This record gives sequence, structure tokens and C-alpha cells, in this order.
Amino acid sequence: MTKGIVLAGGTGSRLHPLTQAASKQLLPVYDKPMVYYPLSVLMLAGLREILIITTPVDRPAFERLLRDGSQWGMKLSFATQDEPNGIAQAFLIGEEFLDGHNCVLILGDNLFYGGGLGKLLTEAVSSQHGAHVFAKEVHDPERYGVVAFDEDGRATSIEEKPTAPQSTWAVTGLYFYDSRVVDIAGSITPSDRGELEITAVNKAYLDAGDLHVVQMGRGLAWLDTGTFGSLVEASEFVRVLETRQRLKVGSPEEVAFQQGFISAAELRDLAIPLVKSGYGEGLLELAERHLP
Ligand code: DAU
Repeated sequence: MTKGIVLAGGTGSRLHPLTQAASKQLLPVYDKPMVYYPLSVLMLAGLREILIITTPVDRPAFERLLRDGSQWGMKLSFATQDEPNGIAQAFLIGEEFLDGHNCVLILGDNLFYGGGLGKLLTEAVSSQHGAHVFAKEVHDPERYGVVAFDEDGRATSIEEKPTAPQSTWAVTGLYFYDSRVVDIAGSITPSDRGELEITAVNKAYLDAGDLHVVQMGRGLAWLDTGTFGSLVEASEFVRVLETRQRLKVGSPEEVAFQQGFISAAELRDLAIPLVKSGYGEGLLELAERHLP
């Protein structure tokens, strides 16, 4: 079994004052809180046991929103990160939760959408060995972890926010690891900016010959939520998709049903109290199409 972690801590300082009263990962992206999107991605990968890591002050709000997950056929637990000491700290905080299992980490502010996403995810989950990460071409690689490739498409280097990037391929915030990741996270030292870098973990896998980097093609969208403008754009993207098609984007209720975690009757019961806002309308239609 593979377990999942959503990392939803940090200071959100790049979005102040929006994030002075609310966690970044609870801000709205059109019709739902941001954390629904990464959570849905882990569900799409087939994971049912997920740890949500938040700041101590934001934890009650996440617990109120997500509850224990049983409403979606999931088992959610919560932990806190006292200070944002780096993304790789998630594995140390989650060590007991992971209990020697393989894991998928997703950053709580990363949004993915597109055909073929489910297949990419299930392929990465089923390959039990090493690390699998995803790369996407961007205009501003210096803002990200950057991976370079040889002619055969094999990763040759990985660097965090390089001033002179060796490629335009950014590493996204979705990472699949075998059970070695906890020991690796425990062995790396903080970077110059004082963080346990996820890129250092990936570099350790690269050095061991066990880093697999999957290039995400043009059919898959990886959306930014890091600035006021990109947050509005992400909302608009979801609004356009949800208005044009009957299905939702990043809805845990819908994914839970599609994955068989809940029945059509359970989906209907979740949808009814959400009809007034409009969020539940499509879900109710979906449930009714599958009810006798
Ligand atoms: O989004 C992908 C990028 O995410 C990768 O390309 C980079 O390699 C990776 O380092 C990371 O870069 P960012 O600059 O986006 O990291 P940031 O510090 O903004 O943290 C990303 C999210 O993780 C953010 O929502 C806050 C959360 N976080 C971050 C740190 C450092 C935590 O919850 N705890 C932390 O200690």
C-alpha cells in the first residue's frame, strides 16, 4: 500500500495580506478550497490513507473542512510543522504515519489537470522502486527545481532555483518515493536558505541512479497559485472548464465516486446539502445517473 502526504504549511508570505488570516491552501480556487485539488490528485492515484501537514494555527480549519475523510471513503490524519523548515521535513514529520510504506507527496498549492493524469499517477504508484517526479516546461525555471536531461531523456542534473538554469524543465510539486525516502530526508543537511530541500532528496535518488523523471506533455496543465494574478487565473481556468463540461475539476466527492470509494447513494447524500451553492448540482446529477 502506498500512503499520501499533502504538505500545506508555510507562511504564505508571497500572498500577504490574503494569507494573514487564512492558510494559503484554504484560499478559494473558483468554487473550492485550494487543498481540494492536490487531495483529489492523490485520490486519483488510488490512495486512501493521507496525512495533511499544516501549521499549528491552521490545523483546526483543515480538520473542520476535511474531517476524518470517511465521508469520501478515505482515512485522513493531521500533523503540524512548527516552522517551515523545508519540504523534505514532511517525511520526518510523517515517519510514523508512513510506517515503512511507499509514499506520494504533493504540495498543497499545486494544481494539476488534464487527460491522462490518472494513468500517469497509477503508473508511478505501481512502480515500487526509486523516485518518480514530473517535469513541465516553464518560462521562468529559476523559480523552481530544475532538471536537465541527456539525449535519451534521462535526468542528468537537478538543482533548486538555479541562477543559470540548465534547462527549462521545472520539477512539479508531486513526488513518488519508495520507503527509503525517510532515511534520505534524515540524512540531508539544510541548504543555504536553511531548508531541508526536496531537491536534495531527489538529488540523492539521482546519484543512486533511481530518479525517474516523467515529462508532462502539453495536454496536462500545471497551474501556478503563487501570486495574486496566478490565483485569479487558476480560478478562471477552473470556472471555464466547469461551466463548459458537466464534470468538476478537483472535487474529492466526484473522485471518491469515480474511484469506487463511495457509492452513488453516498454521493447523493454528500451532494444534496451542497446544491444551494451550486457546487452540488453536477454531483447530484452524476449520482442520480447511477441510482436505480
Ligand atoms: O511548486 C514546485 C516547486 O515547489 C518545486 O519546483 C521546487 O523544487 C520546490 O522547492 C518548491 O518550490 P517553491 O519555491 O514553490 O517552495 P515554497 O517554499 O513556496 O513551498 C511550496 C509549498 O510548500 C508552499 O505552499 C508552502 C509549503 N511548505 C513549504 C515549506 C518550505 C510547507 O508547508 N513547509 C515548508 O517548510
